[in-house]
Amino acid sequence: MGVKPPPSGATGGPPDTIRHFGRAVLRWYRQHGRHDLPWQVKGDPYRVWVSEIMLQQTQVATVIPFYERFIRRFPDVVTLARARVDTVLSYWTGLGYYARARNLHRAARIILKEHDGVFPDEFGSVLALPGIGKSTAGAILSLASDQRHPILDGNVRRVLARYFAVAGETSRKDIQAALWQHAEAVLPKRDTLAAPFNQAMMDLGALVCTRSKPQCRVCPLVGNCQAYALGTPDAFPTRGNKPARPTREVTFIILTDPKGRVLLERRPASGIWGGLWGFPECSLGETPVHWCQHRFHIRATGSAALPVMHHGFTHYVLKIHPQPLRVSHAAGAKIEGRDRVWLYPGAPGRRGLAAPIKQLLEQLDKKHE
Ligand code: ADE
Repeated sequence: MGVKPPPSGATGGPPDTIRHFGRAVLRWYRQHGRHDLPWQVKGDPYRVWVSEIMLQQTQVATVIPFYERFIRRFPDVVTLARARVDTVLSYWTGLGYYARARNLHRAARIILKEHDGVFPDEFGSVLALPGIGKSTAGAILSLASDQRHPILDGNVRRVLARYFAVAGETSRKDIQAALWQHAEAVLPKRDTLAAPFNQAMMDLGALVCTRSKPQCRVCPLVGNCQAYALGTPDAFPTRGNKPARPTREVTFIILTDPKGRVLLERRPASGIWGGLWGFPECSLGETPVHWCQHRFHIRATGSAALPVMHHGFTHYVLKIHPQPLRVSHAAGAKIEGRDRVWLYPGAPGRRGLAAPIKQLLEQLDKKHE
């Protein structure tokens, strides 16, 4: 099997091949791409922004219902900026990566203060907002405002790494620079083509040039794809030898009062689940009853532990030991406060909750039915 030389403009190949790349991708998109996603609305960078943030690390099908609920409650930047962060987080419950929601809210406040509540249309100003990197800024301004900017999200990175057979881990600076060069080179010159082209590249990566078992037979780029020519499309992009994720363990203290209410407290703004509400936690080495005595100066009595749960984060797996404990009304009243509330498991109100907390509240609610 012959290996063809790199056919890239910026990387030395003939511009003809580049024009062919754009045309082939756009033709494929017209027939097979996604055209009716709820955020595909021209001229509304706010909606495109919200969707792009939700779509980071999350699939389209998961995002759609969250997106629709979010936009109904926060239809524009000003509404978002004026909302409390707790309310915003509550609309993010279940989506994960909550720093995205906190940054979205912070950015909305910056837009209100520094841009009169109008989403900026200048690349540098967009890039300066919290939570927005080069690729997201390019996606927002191309999709919403027909500006010509390349993008390089996970899907596009995979398409380009394969097409140009870019070997080397994508976390490396030089590999990222090479991929950005390719992304710039393949982007059609006409401004109005940036939006369909970028959407097409994301769709191609998501639907055809998939991480495992890519569908090369139906790929519009197969003719010049170097990874295909090498016979090893799924060897690109090069995967690092990731060490196995370590496990951390924690005890969730589920304090329960005689009415069947449980205690939730607001977590610190930084760290995992920052700003969300959760059960108090102690380390596995501590006895929950003693821990309550030390931490809250109350007497609690043990009851049966609930089954262990696992929750995956990017860098580790959290093994959760949920431990219900009973306390009296008087003890409960002692520890109530602004960042600590007693609530019925079936009615947590508008609070941001991490997935395992939500799951436990649902379990506890069922037990009381
Ligand atoms: N992933 C990130 N942005 C996307 C978009 N606009 N459409 C589909 N998937 C995406």
